[in-house]
Amino acid sequence: MQSILLNNGISMPVIGYGTYKITEEFHPKECVLQALEAGYRRIDTATLYRNEKQIGEALSECGIPREKLFITTKLWTNVRKEEDVAPAFDGMCSNLRTDYIDMLLIHWPVQDNPSVWRGMEKLYKQHCVRAIGVSNFKEHHIEEILSEGSITPALNQVELHPHFQQKDLRNYCAHHNITVEAWSPLMRGKALDLAELQELAARYKKSVSQIILRFDIQSGLTVIPKTIHSARMRENLDIFDFKISDEDMKKIEALDKNERAYRDPDNHGF
Ligand SMILES: NC(=O)c1ccc[n+]([C@@H]2O[C@H](COP(=O)([O-])OP(=O)(O)OC[C@H]3O[C@@H](n4cnc5c(N)ncnc54)[C@H](OP(=O)(O)O)[C@@H]3O)[C@@H](O)[C@H]2O)c1
Repeated sequence: MQSILLNNGISMPVIGYGTYKITEEFHPKECVLQALEAGYRRIDTATLYRNEKQIGEALSECGIPREKLFITTKLWTNVRKEEDVAPAFDGMCSNLRTDYIDMLLIHWPVQDNPSVWRGMEKLYKQHCVRAIGVSNFKEHHIEEILSEGSITPALNQVELHPHFQQKDLRNYCAHHNITVEAWSPLMRGKALDLAELQELAARYKKSVSQIILRFDIQSGLTVIPKTIHSARMRENLDIFDFKISDEDMKKIEALDKNERAYRDPDNHGF
């Protein structure tokens, strides 16, 4: 699996397994075991997803050494200030059956982001987390962290798919050496219906999902597609044996409508 070097020198697999909406009824433990079997080594979860416990069971039973796994999880919006961070972290670790987290993110901006960030910096300095980052942060939210914090976020995980490619935010993050990760890279399946991508998929003899994910990693992004089907887990990983030409990369870039499909971080309502 290809990896990317984060701004603090740690290496992260470019593709992770997304687990949003894999709630009890979809058997998160079995899904994660299948994803690990398929070759994923990075799992993306969040306290919000209510599956950390089952993921913890999978991670402890999979037989893969902990240091070969990369776990990302996210502080929910009830973590509002510095002193809320450590207790939330303890709960995550207990659910995930680990004593450290690889990547800890602020899930959505809160009122006092710098205060929460201070709590995360403490965990980082105590070696409880290997990297810290943010999610759903616009430039002005990141500015708050850069001006008050002492550590630059390693990652910004944001909505990003062919209709919403976030070019300005990506340029801003590149300038600050912050890796950008695409959530809902497949637009929750809707992007698979785009005719232009279907044409490319037929030409490259790949699926639309593989075209999108390959486009993302070729653009320097990291991705976390979600699926509960093991054949699709494998399909979404099988993107390292072809390259999209510069001309076709431009065609996909041209699909950008700068149109958000989900919540706006300035008005998320959580
Ligand atoms: N930080 C945040 O605020 C935030 C927000 C949203 C998501 N996320 C993270 O990002 C991850 C991915 O986003 P997402 O789950 O919203 O959407 P997504 O990965 O864009 O799309 C998932 C949907 O696509 C389908 N799918 C996946 N692979 C497929 C394939 N090869 N062929 C056909 N259909 C396929 C899945 O169906 P099946 O499951 O039925 O296969 C599912 O319906 C989440 O799971 C979560 O970890 C983060």
